[in-house]
Amino acid sequence: MSSFAPQRRVSVVGLGYVGLPVAVTFGRTDQPVVAFDIDKRRIAELTDGHDRTGEVAAPDLFAQGLRFTAEPQDLQAADFHIVTVPTPIDASNTPDLEPLRRASTTLGKVLKKGDIVVYESTVYPGVTEDVCIPVLERASGLKWKTDFNVGYSPERINPGDKERRFDNILKIVSGDTAETLDIVDALYKSVVKAGTHRAPSIRVAEFAKVLENTQRDINIALINEIALISDRLGIDTRDVLEAAGTKWNFLPFKPGLVGGHCIGVDPFYIAHKAEEVGYHPHVIHSGRRVNDSMGVYVANRVARSIMRRSHDGRPRVTVLGVTFKENVPDIRNTRVVDIVRELQDFGIVVQLHDPEADSDLLREHYALELTPLEKLQPADAVVLAVAHTCYREGGWDVIKPLLRAAAFVADVPALLDRKLTPKGVTLWRL
Ligand SMILES: NC(=O)c1ccc[n+]([C@@H]2O[C@H](COP(=O)([O-])OP(=O)(O)OC[C@H]3O[C@@H](n4cnc5c(N)ncnc54)[C@H](O)[C@@H]3O)[C@@H](O)[C@H]2O)c1
Repeated sequence: MSSFAPQRRVSVVGLGYVGLPVAVTFGRTDQPVVAFDIDKRRIAELTDGHDRTGEVAAPDLFAQGLRFTAEPQDLQAADFHIVTVPTPIDASNTPDLEPLRRASTTLGKVLKKGDIVVYESTVYPGVTEDVCIPVLERASGLKWKTDFNVGYSPERINPGDKERRFDNILKIVSGDTAETLDIVDALYKSVVKAGTHRAPSIRVAEFAKVLENTQRDINIALINEIALISDRLGIDTRDVLEAAGTKWNFLPFKPGLVGGHCIGVDPFYIAHKAEEVGYHPHVIHSGRRVNDSMGVYVANRVARSIMRRSHDGRPRVTVLGVTFKENVPDIRNTRVVDIVRELQDFGIVVQLHDPEADSDLLREHYALELTPLEKLQPADAVVLAVAHTCYREGGWDVIKPLLRAAAFVADVPALLDRKLTPKGVTLWRL
């Protein structure tokens, strides 16, 4: 079975942070890969050798077998389809499965007997079998397990991480039958050097993924809560963490803003399913509440400190970094926006700087503009919000020229050397 599986022709549906590296990795084998996205602009850029997510370099986009397309009909050339479309939440934090339904409809229309569809998008247990498969059956007129098969293999890719890549992260695989699992397993094993873990069912594989991110969310929430308590006690959280970290089984989580489309979103997926089956998840919701409140807390801390001082005109704050994590252009669901909005609510002028962020998307999604470093006016406070390498390496040399006298610096990721704090400046760390 395993020698036969790699001969399958792969398609990837949805070429974002997750899908593109998957398509490119299969493309490196020189097997034909249909790389499909509904976003024509994205397809045009990729065909020209440009990946705006910064995950894949141009030479890899020109791999021989790789074919970028926005034409659903082209998917017919493949018989092993990998779905990597977004699974966001809506304004009321409810899972939005529309992109998955649409992608399943598109695939259903081209599905042939013998095809396999593997979902990689993060979902709660049951989505593949209860939501996606009925859509595939309806759109194709084919019968599940008789005419086509389905698998689920959650993605663990970590955008911006140049070491842990698609091909060296162990991959969970699952299938609707033992035979499907063998094929799915063999196909991924042919490109993922780190190997695979065969989950006993699709639901287990789905649950494992949301658990991974929910566990991170809760662990960070606990440390954020400790940071809120430390601040009230006048104790530096990082000193406490350093001391506690000397114990052999202490887990090294840090306080911070939890944004993006995974850790801040996936717990809502599992919470939604839990409520559907009659359980209200207290710990998961509490963690989300604490983490979602951190941006406002930081802003209040900054506002309080600068409001006490006298000003000529409106106080001004510079925020450094707006992406949801360091060294990526991704601004989706960034909690830095909470800091900006809250400060503006106080009547404070906010200047925003970020050399990594996608400025078009920032304008489109949040109506926010970036200011180049040399155009930043001296500010009453600087919020170092994201640990981009340029801020980490620049340290106080970047910050000092941005400050008015007696300024306040909020160092959210604790990047700055405390010992080098300039005279008259107040340094606060989360
Ligand atoms: N980015 C991560 O760090 C990460 C890590 C692990 C898992 N995931 C999960 O992987 C999935 C994809 O996430 P992402 O970050 O790559 O999303 P993304 O927004 O970067 O990319 C999704 C792509 O899918 C395309 N798309 C949307 N609907 C489509 C459709 N019907 N047909 C074809 N293409 C369509 C979009 O145009 C976009 O290019 C999500 O479920 C996410 O939770 C993401």
